Amino acid sequence: MTKRNVALITGVTGQDGSYLSEFLLSKGYEVHGIIRRSSVDFRERITHLEGKPNFHLHYADMGDSMSLVKVVGKVQPTEIYNLAAQSHVQVSFDSPEFTADVDATGVLRVLEAVRTNHLEKTCRIYQASTSELYGKVEEVPQNENTPFHPYSPYAVAKLYGFWIVKEYREAYNMFCCSGILFNHESERRGETFVTRKITLAAARIAQGKQDCLFLGNLDSLRDWGYAKDYVECMWLILQHDKPEDFVIATGVQHTVREFATLAFKHAGIELAWEGEGVNEKGINIANGKTVVAVSEDFYRPTDVVNLWGDPTKARAELGWNPQKTNFEQLVQIMVENDMRKVAADHVASVTRTNLAEYLEKGLVK
Ligand code: NAP
Ligand code: GDD
Repeated sequence: MTKRNVALITGVTGQDGSYLSEFLLSKGYEVHGIIRRSSVDFRERITHLEGKPNFHLHYADMGDSMSLVKVVGKVQPTEIYNLAAQSHVQVSFDSPEFTADVDATGVLRVLEAVRTNHLEKTCRIYQASTSELYGKVEEVPQNENTPFHPYSPYAVAKLYGFWIVKEYREAYNMFCCSGILFNHESERRGETFVTRKITLAAARIAQGKQDCLFLGNLDSLRDWGYAKDYVECMWLILQHDKPEDFVIATGVQHTVREFATLAFKHAGIELAWEGEGVNEKGINIANGKTVVAVSEDFYRPTDVVNLWGDPTKARAELGWNPQKTNFEQLVQIMVENDMRKVAADHVASVTRTNLAEYLEKGLVK
């Protein structure tokens, strides 16, 4: 008998959920996604998948265990990818309780939904863990043995998720594992994460639709990869012969300033940097205008500033290529996409005059 491949994805409307759905559909999976009820349906990233015969959506919420038990019972998945989260680090300082409920207790609810439906032996579970667990880092680069030091309410909640998955693996012999993923970006990245905020602004400024981009810590170092490459790894982790946790990263580090310099270059603007700290500015060399400035509004109470992953184990044991899309290609993909998007006027422009309104709504963090 052929193996039945039925995947249930929480967070299907997010960046990773949309790419993972495409990936699993291409592998012949029956894909089920969990969406939460809201007064407006905002499913831009998966609209193109709706109506496909193997793609199904179900209402549930990470804060509601009964809804999760029902969907897991109905779908009878062979694999669950738990991607749903309040995923913005800065937002977690404003909404720590909500973040804990979704990102920590939510993981427990998924594990218990599997046990309640007696699927422990047949259903493998992937947990979307994060390099934020290393937080105030204790060594560079970070690998599977590096001690954790979470440094935000988001990271503390995700640490619970990591440990409860490990606990259920050992206590109940469940095939459940965490992918410790470093930052991964794409043209579908949420607009308030720093990379997408930069590529959108670079496109708008290049097309005369915005004057200046305001950022926080320009020195922060990240190991940025391409989301489309990373979802493959989530699947590989669940196909492995034993349940284990893996670091997924490119092994290359860049600052926020370097990302901005390259993004503006792709948008046709050469930047020169002047000043330091909150007074630092990115100047458009062609006309002397300040197009990047620092705003303390984007500083975090505690910031994670030195993430650098070591993907040796994933390369050796999963056969995954961490450099399939490199940093330069990633920035180019994102800027080219946003240049087209802004030209088609699909994105509202952010100017200095409406910046305060955007800040208040949390749209530009
Ligand atoms: P994302 O774009 O912010 O997507 C988050 C998803 O979670 C959305 O589909 C969202 O639904 C859903 N969600 C939030 N609260 C929910 C709730 N109460 N019930 C049901 N669904 C809920 O995040 P992403 O970048 O794709 O990341 C996917 C996962 O990987 C997250 O767990 C994130 O923490 C983790 N991670 C991400 C990265 C990265 O660099 N991208 C790195 C490491 C780990 P709505 O559309 O309804 O809001
Ligand atoms: N968002 C944002 N906005 N970040 C800024 C800004 C800004 O204007 N200016 C500087 N930064 C700095 C932040 O202080 C942080 O050090 C870095 O840029 C990256 O910020 P984000 O893009 O918001 O991502 P993150 O690293 O905090 O979190 C993302 O990656 C994690 C994996 O390490 C999220 O996707 C998390 O869900 C994920 O776990």
